[in-house]
Amino acid sequence: MDLNGQHIIIGVTGGIAAYKTATLVRTLVKNGAEVRVLMTPAAKHLITPLTMATLSKHPVLTEFYNPENGEWNSHVRLGLWADLFIIAPATANTLAKMAAGIADNLLLTAYLSARCPVMAAPAMDMDMWQHPATQDNLQILRQRGVHIIEPTAGELASGLDGKGRMEEPECIADAAAQLLVKKKSSPIKRALVTAGPTYEAIDPVRYIGNHSSGKMGYALAEALAQRGVRVTLISGPTALTPVHAGIERLCVTGAQEMYEATLRCFPDTDAAILCAAVADYTPVAPATKKIKHTPETLLLELKPTIDIAAALGRQKRDNQRLVGFALETDNETTNAQQKLQAKNLDLIVLNSLNDEGAGFGTDTNKITILDSRGGQYEYPLQSKQAVAEIIIDTLEKNLTHVTS
Ligand code: PMT
Repeated sequence: MDLNGQHIIIGVTGGIAAYKTATLVRTLVKNGAEVRVLMTPAAKHLITPLTMATLSKHPVLTEFYNPENGEWNSHVRLGLWADLFIIAPATANTLAKMAAGIADNLLLTAYLSARCPVMAAPAMDMDMWQHPATQDNLQILRQRGVHIIEPTAGELASGLDGKGRMEEPECIADAAAQLLVKKKSSPIKRALVTAGPTYEAIDPVRYIGNHSSGKMGYALAEALAQRGVRVTLISGPTALTPVHAGIERLCVTGAQEMYEATLRCFPDTDAAILCAAVADYTPVAPATKKIKHTPETLLLELKPTIDIAAALGRQKRDNQRLVGFALETDNETTNAQQKLQAKNLDLIVLNSLNDEGAGFGTDTNKITILDSRGGQYEYPLQSKQAVAEIIIDTLEKNLTHVTS
């Protein structure tokens, strides 16, 4: 594990597992990282700042300012300094505050100011872990790109047996090293991602749309940005907001608008991932005034939209990669293969509406990736964040394989 020159903030909150964080700090420092420790007031009851300061070789920060000389501990500077922020243990309380944007201690303000990837290793009693409030908070954080290191099952401080034990320090350090390597070495410098649905106007109040929430596309944009990639996210109407400062979002409504934005941005990118659920048809002549209700049948004339993926496929340079998605309900693999070829894609990500937990609106997805060399790779159901990492790993391999 080579962490030379990496700046890591360790945030310690008030959980019994704080004693394991001492080993985490030691491991990171031993492998070359420069570590700064932030502790919440509650954490100081569980492990002393002296231990953490000795192991990290730097003073531990817990307050906004030094009460003795009034010196301000700048959470903004810390947030900008760090290459990675690991919160371990992360209590249910701190996770809830992170999800809600509460900033009532130095650790939380540093979290809100951080521009680097954030990992959280939760530790709590099994009932607190399972509680819908905690699970909802975790989901919010995952969607915002926080890497949650799942706790393990076993004997808990309460004496109960179940899930809630903080992952072992060595595993957290490994996950941190992997994340930092990805960030340092991505061959993708600029990428374009499309996300969400398109809305095709029927009249000023109605449209043809679909059930895409944007979750999959936004997860891809966040994961790319966390690897240091400059991302242009071309988004149809969604309730989501990108978090990472490396994401520039262009909001569009209809397929034509998405086509124009995508075509404009594509030449400046190394790769485009087309995750949006673009309408295949649009009304020929949207009414300029609201269509009134009548007893008559209404016929709507539709024309095909431009195929954005195919248009990019025609102008793709040798050093660019194009990834499409295929959302299928039948003949899944055959249809995906046809789309891969017809649109001149390098990879296609197949998800099927027949798989429970996959596709529209869910927090999870189940995918098969097909490549233009005939490769086919199937993955189990997992969070859209984890799926995004797999897709980007595959894309990076594809980019380096052919260009090197
Ligand atoms: O947003 P979520 O709720 O998280 O859901 C994610 C998702 C299900 C929308 C996503 O995983 C997905 O499958 N997106 C593609 C949906 C789709 O439109 O698939 P398709 O098989 O109809 O299209 C094939 C490819 O061509 C896609 O890359 C699509 O972006 C592209 N396309 C389609 C039509 C069109 N006019 N232009 C295009 O570029």
